[in-house]
Amino acid sequence: MTQDELKKQVAQSALEYIKGVSIVGVGTGSTVNFFIEMLADFKADIEAAVSSSDATTQRLKNIGIPVLELNSVGDIEVYIDGADEVDPRKKLIKGGGGALTREKIIAAASKKFVCIVDDSKCVDVLGKFPLPVEVIPMARSYVAREMVKLGGQPIWREDYYTDNGCEILDVHNLDIINPMELERTINDITGVVTVGLFSHRDADIVLIGNGDKVDIMR
Ligand code: A5P
Repeated sequence: MTQDELKKQVAQSALEYIKGVSIVGVGTGSTVNFFIEMLADFKADIEAAVSSSDATTQRLKNIGIPVLELNSVGDIEVYIDGADEVDPRKKLIKGGGGALTREKIIAAASKKFVCIVDDSKCVDVLGKFPLPVEVIPMARSYVAREMVKLGGQPIWREDYYTDNGCEILDVHNLDIINPMELERTINDITGVVTVGLFSHRDADIVLIGNGDKVDIMR
């Protein structure tokens, strides 16, 4: 199977988790895009969605699914999203597509976070994928220096602005042995909006498409 076929396979398996759910949280990225395409046939079950990015909002609206503000709904029953890396304890790196802040907010407000990945995303130790850190623009250089102190090599995602009008540093060369401690440390740096480590609010279930079948990590 190609990587896109694996993404479709795992996206398909996520439909099981939204049966009978009226408001679904929807993430961002190429895997989720396949899931959104499949949602078109599931519309009947879904009243509305809460979206993690402008791009996802547009796709949802294109297939006729109303998009609600998180502020106007209570806790979300289920949140479906991809990831850039997943470790064996369901800790994640996210934000390759730049939507990490809204993704983290929706994950926090959701009762169940179902993460969908193809098996190329599974790693023993997080950090090969550069860790995205969203920053307030005027703090970018300061935060970059702090990242160097932590042993990382920050690269500015030049000419890129998030949906929140902020900038992103992609931090290379981090061996993330203790994701919970690193998430806390980076969150504490002034000027950081969000770090793309999802270890305190990690995934509840990870669905992993490997071609033969979809593995479930609980
Ligand atoms: C978006 O900001 C990211 O967190 C994505 O969820 C993540 O990068 C996975 O994207 P793909 O499904 O495109 O690999």
